[in-house]
Amino acid sequence: MTDVATTKQEIRSRVAAARSAGRSVGLVPTMGALHVGHRALLDRSVAENGFTVCSVFVNPTQFGPSEDFERYPRQLEQDRLLCEAAGADVVFAPSPQEMYASDHTTWVNEERLTEGMCGARRPGHFRGVTTVCMKLFHVVVPDRAYFGCKDYQQLKVIQRMVRDLDLPLEIVPVETVRDADGLAVSSRNQYLSADDRVASLALRRGLLAGREAVRGGERSARAVAETVRGEIVGQGRLQVDYIEVVDAETLEPSAPLSGRVVVAAAVYCGDTRLIDNIVIDVESKE
Ligand code: PAF
Repeated sequence: MTDVATTKQEIRSRVAAARSAGRSVGLVPTMGALHVGHRALLDRSVAENGFTVCSVFVNPTQFGPSEDFERYPRQLEQDRLLCEAAGADVVFAPSPQEMYASDHTTWVNEERLTEGMCGARRPGHFRGVTTVCMKLFHVVVPDRAYFGCKDYQQLKVIQRMVRDLDLPLEIVPVETVRDADGLAVSSRNQYLSADDRVASLALRRGLLAGREAVRGGERSARAVAETVRGEIVGQGRLQVDYIEVVDAETLEPSAPLSGRVVVAAAVYCGDTRLIDNIVIDVESKE
């Protein structure tokens, strides 16, 4: 049975017991509303560690004032069952009061990789993400933590934070999981109507069109972004928040495009914001 720990003290003592039994510790940080994408993270952690913790915490500090913090889906018992099916050992589901002191004033900021993409569009978002991940890493003290590639900028920012601040854990990237029609699975897909869902497929189609353009010899980031935009806006129902074509490691411009680049995009379908990306090896034809 996978049980739920709600306090830092409880999770610390569960992890300490696992450690003294010689088990390595994997952490899958989530905001809940778990789906097959999270399941892939959990499966990987369970395969690679003797003890897996899944944190479920809708982190208030990473949402802007007009974002979906209030309506973000919360379904702890369903999440616990998914963790149990995956073989995770414990769910850590603290309250906001447990995670943050009422007069919390200390923040972790990554200052370069967060400049563009979602960082530019969602001021304060990554400060909330890095701060809560740092806190989770301190509370759980995992050997490995698992992050999905769908949130590409988040993955890069967390890897950079771990490197820069000498945190003794490995960040393990896990491939984006897609539904059969190609839509990247996301907790926010729950907000989409049937028509929205069909419309949302243009995001993936746009990214694939961008990759085709690069394969066809296009080396201008702007031209690739325009190809992606054409496919997305051609759909009629999606609004582009951003499309960026940048170096896959530094997230800075690559001109002309060379090496590994990431094409990353965020779109709105009504009020629902969706992100996706594709990493391209520019010189490869595959
Ligand atoms: O990717 C998420 O679900 C969140 O940003 C994370 C990493 C759990 C931090 O709240």
